[in-house]
Amino acid sequence: MNGNIAISGSKNAALPLLAAALLADEPMTLNNVPRLQDIYAFNNVLRVVGAQVQFQDIENRVIIDPSNVNYLEAPYDLVRKMRASFYMLGALVGKHGYAKVSMPGGCAWGPRPVDLHLKGMEAMGITITLDKGYVIAKAGSSVPGGRYRLEPSSVGATINLLLAAVLRAESFTIGNAAKEPDVVQLCNVLNKMGANISGVGSDTLSIKKAQKLSGGTFENDPDRIEAGTFMIAAAMLPESSLRLIGCNAQHLGNFPQLLRQTGAKVNVEGEVISVQAPEILQPVSITTEIYPGFPTDLQAQWATMLSQANGNSTVTDTVYFDRFSYVPELSRLGANIKLKHNTAYIQGPTLLEGASVMSTDLRASVSLVLAGMAAKNTSEILRVYHLDRGYESLEDKLNAIGAKLTRAQE
Ligand code: EPZ
Repeated sequence: MNGNIAISGSKNAALPLLAAALLADEPMTLNNVPRLQDIYAFNNVLRVVGAQVQFQDIENRVIIDPSNVNYLEAPYDLVRKMRASFYMLGALVGKHGYAKVSMPGGCAWGPRPVDLHLKGMEAMGITITLDKGYVIAKAGSSVPGGRYRLEPSSVGATINLLLAAVLRAESFTIGNAAKEPDVVQLCNVLNKMGANISGVGSDTLSIKKAQKLSGGTFENDPDRIEAGTFMIAAAMLPESSLRLIGCNAQHLGNFPQLLRQTGAKVNVEGEVISVQAPEILQPVSITTEIYPGFPTDLQAQWATMLSQANGNSTVTDTVYFDRFSYVPELSRLGANIKLKHNTAYIQGPTLLEGASVMSTDLRASVSLVLAGMAAKNTSEILRVYHLDRGYESLEDKLNAIGAKLTRAQE
């Protein structure tokens, strides 16, 4: 694989900003928003509550006008499709003092609790009641606030508590807050809108109540997980050399350094990350951690690469203990990978043979694409709608650098 890939805007960074638009008194314009199913789904949730949402696909621009929001509920049939819709709870109760939002479903790899979101809001003084699968949050004109420590640290809970607190809580502190770039971007945008958040980028966020938030135009971060995925592709596919354009290497934490340990050449020059495959791919074991540790969203892709490494290695996920539904599918392609609790034991290198395999979730599905590109013969990957949730124009980007991906008409 050789050539350049332009990195799209980040899905996980854009979603909290779309929710934050509901907190403003004027329209918000967001640039660099990827054309993805999850973004379309979130835009529909915003429309259900009464916001005007215009997605100018070609320019990757979304304009949200929240001034007519009048329906403070997010229904089950929308929230179950996309877990991040649960951010509507913080945005609606934060802006309007009331919200009724469906509990999110689980996902392919297991339960995804929201207990921290709810306990944190209660600690703030918001009244939370559960009613037939819905969460009802009431905050009156304001709540006293206080402090709440997240255990474990949670990206979603940090985001939801920020959305609830900035206009509603007199003074609120989040302990053990997530420091992912998605959270930092949300804090910076909220502060530019008029919020009063201190400790941005640290694991302690303190919020003082703001009277109002203005709209504005903001540029969404590039997608660090998409960049990491293509960096792994370049390292695992022999003789590859890729240049990823429009990245922010700071958002990848210790990932580039770890990738260098495989023997891959990784060079960062401003917004361009170049990766060249090594002669012999060295096995490098990893354990996922919260930012700036190894991201759980790159764990499946890394394990796939290790099937091609010259030796044995392990992948352990401490964020999601059961995020290994891709393992049996990789085995079908010939990988030598055994699972014990939340660790995958991988022996390499193994010659992968094309086969039909099943995508189970967003990151597992892209890992199967990488495996298919490394395998002999042709692989068929089913349920690729998972891919369309998180990777903009994946076939075009990979075929432009020498892959042979075709989408069968279902
Ligand atoms: C976000 O999910 C991302 N999703 C996930 O990316 C990502 O894997 C995850 O953060 C971790 O980085 C979006 O940004 C839309 P968490 P989130 O709350 O917020 C436990 C992808 O592939 N927890 O940080 O749901 C939880 O079980 C997606 O793009 C509680 O116990 O993740 C997990 O073990 C998949 N109680 C840990 O915290 C709670 O109330 C971290 O989860 C909330 C979370």
